[in-house]
Amino acid sequence: MHSILSLFLKDDFSGDIVSTCKKIDSSGFKVAEMAVDMSRVYNFSAGPAVLPEEVLKQAADEMFDYQGSGQSVMEMSHRSKVYDGIIKTAEADFRKLLSIPDNYKVLFLQGGASTQFAMIPMNLMKNRVADYIVTGQWAKKAYQEASKYGKANKIASSEDRTFSYIPDVSDLPVSEDADYVYICQNNTIYGTKYKELPNTKGKILVSDVSSMFLSEPMDVTKYGLVYGGVQKNVGPAGVTIVIIREDLITDTPLPGTPTMLTYKTHADADSLYNTPPCYNIYICGLVFKWLLNMGGLEVMKKKNEEKAKILYDFLDSSDMFKGTVVPEYRSLMNVPFVTGDDELNARFIKEAEEKGFVNLKGHRSVGGMRASIYNAMPKEGVEKLVQFMSDFEKNN
Ligand SMILES: Cc1ncc(COP(=O)(O)O)c(C=O)c1O
Repeated sequence: MHSILSLFLKDDFSGDIVSTCKKIDSSGFKVAEMAVDMSRVYNFSAGPAVLPEEVLKQAADEMFDYQGSGQSVMEMSHRSKVYDGIIKTAEADFRKLLSIPDNYKVLFLQGGASTQFAMIPMNLMKNRVADYIVTGQWAKKAYQEASKYGKANKIASSEDRTFSYIPDVSDLPVSEDADYVYICQNNTIYGTKYKELPNTKGKILVSDVSSMFLSEPMDVTKYGLVYGGVQKNVGPAGVTIVIIREDLITDTPLPGTPTMLTYKTHADADSLYNTPPCYNIYICGLVFKWLLNMGGLEVMKKKNEEKAKILYDFLDSSDMFKGTVVPEYRSLMNVPFVTGDDELNARFIKEAEEKGFVNLKGHRSVGGMRASIYNAMPKEGVEKLVQFMSDFEKNN
């Protein structure tokens, strides 16, 4: 447990009130007195996941009255001037963080990352051929979805060893007429990450970066399209950010493509074709500011490397806990591990939860444990987890 801010209406609050926070007055009307609860868990969820405390505090402060507008961001029109400022600033900050060139559009979309599994082929499969590198469940789902729209070729896979590595992607049999080559760059469930991008032999690279979004710098010019659901490193579930090179935004997606699933619809309307997930985009914007204030993605990457090293070093030295991934391909974000004993795994997860280390259960398709240590997980959280694991090992 560590100190935080979470807000409750005082009358409804039954926990230990450490201190009252503030009175909220709106137009002279006393709304509520707030209490501060000082217990917050270390949340190792794979997503939706931990968000920076500074961001949560600012959102709480601005909840009733966003910067003198007299409304919360949840209540305002997406066509209002004040909201226009929020979405434009969010996009500008996002572009700054990733140094996105002018010939790429940034789209704030809905439907989760999974909607992109269909949207990508519908918009990019001109020849109705695409090559997929299958390194986990999410890449597999994208590949299966693409098969509905054309010829999806599985040109490499790591399924033979439970997706515990990334295949050699230096000289793949890329199809002559492939419209793109698709990868999932960080595999949330299996905890693997590409160390080198594939040699696509001149074809467009499309990448799902959901579980590594903004965890480190990325050279956007290497991709035709990059996308991610934001609910891991970037914000609350409900927004998918797509970065797409302008020449790939077409008037002629596959016949029958719905208006809402056409990139051009959203590109032409600056992500305001219909009502966007306004509040969630606002929170993403606060996270972008948090990253910029920290010094940007190089700084974030260093912090993430430090955190991951603490955990991997422990796993490599432990007799009880073992990492499941070929070391070369270890993710900085998702760290699966096992004890080799289901009963022991279950006891570990239970006792960890009692100590305030939550969501450590591995994905149902893998079992064991998984610690997701996204941007907002403090180093202290990883250090304390490792201390707990070490104690657990001594006692069991
Ligand atoms: C890498 C990756 N891609 C896609 C998805 C699917 O995301 P969504 O639930 O937003 O559709 C996930 C979800 O965890 C993921 O980790």
